[in-house]
Order: sequence, then C-alpha cells, then structure tokens
Amino acid sequence: MGKEIIPFWEKTYQEKDIITFSVKPNPTVKEFENLLSKQSKILEAGCGEGQNAIYLAQQGYCNTDAFDLSENAIAKVKHRCQLLGTQLNAYVADMTTYQFEKNYDMIICFGTLHFLSKDDWKNFLNNAKLHTNIGGIHIMQIFTDSVPASEDIAPFAIGLAKDEEIIDLYKDWEVLQFKSYIFEDEHPGVPKHLHASNKIVVRRFK
Ligand SMILES: C[S@@+](CC[C@H](N)C(=O)[O-])C[C@H]1O[C@@H](n2cnc3c(N)ncnc32)[C@H](O)[C@@H]1O
Repeated sequence: MGKEIIPFWEKTYQEKDIITFSVKPNPTVKEFENLLSKQSKILEAGCGEGQNAIYLAQQGYCNTDAFDLSENAIAKVKHRCQLLGTQLNAYVADMTTYQFEKNYDMIICFGTLHFLSKDDWKNFLNNAKLHTNIGGIHIMQIFTDSVPASEDIAPFAIGLAKDEEIIDLYKDWEVLQFKSYIFEDEHPGVPKHLHASNKIVVRRFK
C-alpha cells in the first residue's frame, strides 16, 4: 500500500498560531458585500480557516454558514470565532455530496473547486445555482490549467478548469465581473509558486 499524501494545509490547520492562507478576506468579498443586506443568507464552501466567512459574520451578516471537508479547518474556524467573539455556523461537509438545505443570497468559494473532479465541481455549482434566491450572487474562484499545477497541489488539483470554462455555467446569469490572471503564491513551508486563476462574480436575475 502506498503512503497517503496529505495536503500541506492539513498540518498548519492544526497549528492555532499559524495562518496558512490569509487573515484578510478576499478583496472581491469586500467589493460586492454592499449588494447584501445584513439578513442575507450566505454560504462559503471550502472555507479553510474561514477568513471570508468570519469577516462577513463580524460585519453583522448574521446568517452566514461555512463548511469545509477538513475537520482541522472547521476546528480552527470555531477556535478563531471563539477568540473573536463571532457567531458563525461552521461545519464539516463535502462539496461532492453536498445537500443544500436552504436557499442563499450569496454563495462563495475560493481556491477550492479545482480539488473536485470537473464533473463534481460543475454539479456543485449547478446545485448552488438552484439554491440561490433571485438577485443572489456567486463569487467563485477556480484555478485553471493555463499554468501547470504547482508541486504543492498537483496530486490534489484533479479538476483544473480551462480558461473561461466557468463562464459557461453562468450563461443564464448576469456576469458582474470576470478576471483571468496568474499570481505568485507562498504558504508556510511551501516555496513561492504560480497559479493561474479565474474569478467570476455573477447574479441570478430570473
Ligand atoms: C487551498 S484551500 C482554500 C481555503 C479557503 N477557501 C481560502 O481561500 O483560504 C482548499 C480548501 O478546500 C477544502 N476542500 C477540498 N476538497 C473539498 C471538498 N470536497 N469539500 C469541501 N472542502 C474541500 C480543503 O479542505 C481546503 O480547506
């Protein structure tokens, strides 16, 4: 039997004093949060250490849910919420089998979809669309194959998108923003590397 390969983030998710990705929310969340009311129902899928969902909960969005496959991630999110005195509904769940229990006004997902197979991320997005209220928005970021997967994620990045492929899923929604870009990244214990990314902000209008 081969040795199981564990993604680098699982190690630092267990370290309470190390942040693997970012303490700050993604700037696109701040850019578009004005489309929401404080009662809006928000979901973050693959939330990792929770910087986006925690930020939103801190801003007073009191109906914020966030989930991740990793038990270590969710334990850390809960720990961070406790330290900050923030209320957030954080739970362990798998995007490949996720059953929506309600409709949302905003669904976000950063840097995670490409860890699902293409069929699985498309299935998740189609279900997410069906569970989004009219006027609701999605902010989705996915890595593309415009540059090869970096060594740190190569064994797990099984669903890299083609550039602009994600737009096809939202042909019946209004595209508020689309960006295709390459950026340099670095994490604790992982040397600098490049990722190619698509980020889309879309609104359901009917
Ligand atoms: C690179 S991290 C990004 C975390 C966070 N979204 C961020 O921007 O910092 C990828 C995350 O996807 C989660 N993940 C991978 N496969 C998943 C799945 N099938 N369902 C839910 N989360 C998943 C991992 O546990 C990890 O926390």
